[in-house]
Amino acid sequence: MTQTTTQRTATPRHYLMCPPTYFDVVYAINPWMDPSSPVDPAKALAQWEALRAAYEARGHRVDVIDPVPGLPDMVYAANGGIVVGGKALAATFTYPQRAAEGVAYDRWFAEHGEPTYRRLGQTAEIMEGEGDLLLVGSTLLAGTGFRTTPAAHAEVAARLGLAEQGIELVPLELVDPRYYHLDTALSVLDDGAVSGETVIAYHPDAFTPAARATLEERYPDAILVGADDAAVLGLNVVSDGLNVFLSDRARDYADALKERGFVPVGIDLSEIFKGGGSVKCCTLELRPASTTEETR
Ligand code: ARG
Repeated sequence: MTQTTTQRTATPRHYLMCPPTYFDVVYAINPWMDPSSPVDPAKALAQWEALRAAYEARGHRVDVIDPVPGLPDMVYAANGGIVVGGKALAATFTYPQRAAEGVAYDRWFAEHGEPTYRRLGQTAEIMEGEGDLLLVGSTLLAGTGFRTTPAAHAEVAARLGLAEQGIELVPLELVDPRYYHLDTALSVLDDGAVSGETVIAYHPDAFTPAARATLEERYPDAILVGADDAAVLGLNVVSDGLNVFLSDRARDYADALKERGFVPVGIDLSEIFKGGGSVKCCTLELRPASTTEETR
């Protein structure tokens, strides 16, 4: 049954972002990237600053990692790792063009994360952080098919101690190359911490029939997002439980969010979109050991 009256509550979050100082599209590792279409660096930076300001205006803490010259995709901070229960595991990338990003994020955890976020190092297996690993309450939805591997899921579960933290890992296989990361096809909207109701949204066609069946069974009240909103990377959102930061081009999805009691906050990231990412891709959530604790 669809609930329209659930009270939504924002909780303060801690995010890590990387400015698009060296952002560019000079290679193509996903179908959105076209190296022949130019990027406007000043516009990319202004759009990124607006996203950061939107988080800070709503009381969230944003830390910034230094961008590295020669790493044009480093702006997609979500891929840098996964931080759960105060444990920070850095990414190991699929493509050599991004490999050095895993090292940079690992170093950030060592130099700036400790002691709140204990640095565990990079994974041995291919693991692209919160691009593919999305925490919904006590469930870690784990994408695979294009980037993060099933072997990495097992490594993540073991090294983050998911079972000890009471977190279940649920693998979901992706099938459409445009939706190569789980966070391009699925949004976490409410982790249930305050409302008691977990809410996600997803684009069904991005998943195998088996993954779709898993999602239907576990999240019968999920918002289903259609092809048009998926194709503007509308599902690539950040939610604080109330405010949902998303592409200003995802109109139907924004309406559906309002119906469910959320407040959509439209963001224009048209330049960063050229690399195949949007709001969530630019944002890595840092979760301390006690997630009920204030992170400010
Ligand atoms: N160009 C980047 C890549 O293909 C985009 C990453 C987008 N990030 C994300 N979290 N989906 O790897």
